[in-house]
Amino acid sequence: MDKQERLRIAIQKSGRLTDACFDLLKQCGLKYTRGKDQLYCYGENLPLDVLLVRDDDIPDLVREDVCDLGVVGENVLNEHPASHSIERLRALEFGKCRLSIAVPESFPYRAPQDLSGLRIATTYPNSLQRWLQQHGVAAQSVTLSGSVEIAPRLGRAEVICDLVSTGSTLIANRLKEVETIFHSQAWLVKTPQPLSDFKAAWVARLLQRIDGVIRVKESKYIMLHAPVHALAKIKTLLPGSESPTILPLEGQSDRVAVHALCHENVFWETLESLKAAGASALLVLPVEKMLP
Ligand code: PRP
Ligand code: ZN
Repeated sequence: MDKQERLRIAIQKSGRLTDACFDLLKQCGLKYTRGKDQLYCYGENLPLDVLLVRDDDIPDLVREDVCDLGVVGENVLNEHPASHSIERLRALEFGKCRLSIAVPESFPYRAPQDLSGLRIATTYPNSLQRWLQQHGVAAQSVTLSGSVEIAPRLGRAEVICDLVSTGSTLIANRLKEVETIFHSQAWLVKTPQPLSDFKAAWVARLLQRIDGVIRVKESKYIMLHAPVHALAKIKTLLPGSESPTILPLEGQSDRVAVHALCHENVFWETLESLKAAGASALLVLPVEKMLP
């Protein structure tokens, strides 16, 4: 009997991407049991297992073929020297943040040259170094393994270079963001090693499901009644929709039902404009799954 091949995907053990990764895998249909050590999840219904690791380790695990796939932030890919050999499959539209330079609130910052001669605390020395070189700034980077935001208060550095998402960490530490080095989000990545036909077919299926999940997130199904004479106007008001379905309404020759899939969120303002254009019985439904 053939021993069945299984795909292995590495995700961040605990951090900004963890919950969103599990949500994505669940939405792709994966059911799993979590091992006793909490570091390995066995896929019960798909040949796909999840390995929970430190996010800095993901590029090496994927490159060295220990894992076929990984979900990792661009921040890690940009920083890690091994990353250029890794294949990027999809931007996943979550884990959005940016790597920025921040200075104390009272610092009169105008331009990169103002950083000359200062110490910059960071956990991203490679990314910082590249940016300093590009801007011709001679500053000293101080590599820390965490808690970068308190370095200025401790006197270890004058400014910092760290990830910013909501900005609340900066505010809490009386720092202000002055330069953005890059924007980041989570990516699905793949080993550069060739996969077996079996594994490649499953990666393709997974990708198709992921595309569906990403599209569905902002999509809504909208249903309404419209006077026939206002149809043209109403169609233009439906946000990001493909050609709508028009259905007759029994006993009403001057009104029809309009059903449309909208690839954008539908806001109250849109509904109000539709109503003003003559629509009634407006209903907006979430979309659960989509296979283009
Ligand atoms: C980053 C960064 C800040 C925080 C910023 O840390 O180092 O601490 O996120 O987020 P905010 O702008 O929403 O406040 P992360 O959570 O990635 O983990 P770490 O602190 O362990 O590096
Ligand atoms: Zn942090």
